Amino acid sequence: MVEVKGFKEGLEDVVAADSTICYIDGNRGILSYRGIDIHDLAENSTFEEVCFLLWEGRLPRREELDALRRSIGAERALPPEMLQLLASIVPHLTPMDALRTTVSALAETDPDVRDMSREANRRKAIRLTGQLAAIVAADHRLRNGQPVVDADPSLFHAEDFLRMLTGAKPSPEATQALDVALVLHADHELNASTFAARVTAATLSDMHSAITSAVATLKGPLHGGANEAVVKMLIEIGSLDRVDDYVRSKLARKEKIMGFGHRVYHTEDPRATHLRAMSKALAESSGQTRWYDMSRRIEKIVNEEKKLNSNVDFYSASVYYMLGIPPDVYTPIFAVSRVSGWTAHVLEQYEHNRLIRPRAEYIGPEYPQPYVPIEKR
Ligand SMILES: CC(C)(COP(=O)(O)OP(=O)(O)OC[C@H]1O[C@@H](n2cnc3c(N)ncnc32)[C@H](O)[C@@H]1OP(=O)(O)O)[C@@H](O)C(=O)NCCC(=O)NCCS
Repeated sequence: MVEVKGFKEGLEDVVAADSTICYIDGNRGILSYRGIDIHDLAENSTFEEVCFLLWEGRLPRREELDALRRSIGAERALPPEMLQLLASIVPHLTPMDALRTTVSALAETDPDVRDMSREANRRKAIRLTGQLAAIVAADHRLRNGQPVVDADPSLFHAEDFLRMLTGAKPSPEATQALDVALVLHADHELNASTFAARVTAATLSDMHSAITSAVATLKGPLHGGANEAVVKMLIEIGSLDRVDDYVRSKLARKEKIMGFGHRVYHTEDPRATHLRAMSKALAESSGQTRWYDMSRRIEKIVNEEKKLNSNVDFYSASVYYMLGIPPDVYTPIFAVSRVSGWTAHVLEQYEHNRLIRPRAEYIGPEYPQPYVPIEKR
């Protein structure tokens, strides 16, 4: 944290919007969507139900949930020209870059693209939620020379996404683990990517532009990119007996350990609590405890040495790895979930919009400076 002339860099502690979507108490480790505790949602809800909650502000009745599940399922498909675009960029771009480009291009295929009514934007939220999963799955298949798998709209999002990604029916355990991960990642107040989406929407730009900004912002290793960095670290360390040396020497070099620290939580991130338990359960049921054991040891050292807690990205890495999901899909999966929160915030921004335009503290050469003609420089 860097203090400059009475304000903290990085907009720390700045309240930039009223919102009814997500409540966080960073001192007590509380996260809730629309006031419902994340632990209750993780244990009882589904990703579709959370989407409804974020977009509509209340839990759905059964028929409303069924209808939303079918609507998202029907949108889990890409127009042929978008599949062609994806196939042409996949050899040249990372999955997050390809996702950003395809989300932007999707605007041109959206029947509601120029309609800024609430109803049209709500349809775009559903469409983008289905389509993002389709892009991530198709990108992975194309990248690996495999045929793209069509959606089965009758399935829940988590199950169908895994099926479209791997080409095989996922186990109930894998489906359940991914569904909980999607619930846990769905929203997080004014995190960097959501803020980027709201800034874009606040200029009265369209939903696709706002979500493109969000995907671009999520990509960075200080935000959504951290989960992929965590698994790379686990693979690089390789075994439990090498953890201590690796982590301690990284800390001695003042390097960050990915998956630790948080701008808002001063105690354990409540999402990490669930992901740790999921990582443990998957380790025990599969008999491969290496990644969980290494993660626990890393956590212990970073807790002791830096007083930092793990965040959402730390244990999601070992969970996804044990589910057999390739590392370059981890950050895209974050987007597959967070698009629900991004779109909820964009809808909220449009409802009582004002341009978001902060000021900068000027610390450049003192005013006025002379203008020196080019021949005298
Ligand atoms: C999340 C994060 C970006 C928050 O950043 P922030 O609020 O700006 O905090 P800072 O980067 O200023 O860190 C404050 C101090 O803690 C240290 N720190 C923060 N995260 C750390 C980490 N993961 N490993 C080691 N040290 C860390 C910083 O080096 C700094 O120490 P200093 O004051 O001695 O210089 C930051 O903790 C981080 O980079 N974590 C790793 C990336 C990550 O996991 N991102 C996913 C977030 S959900």
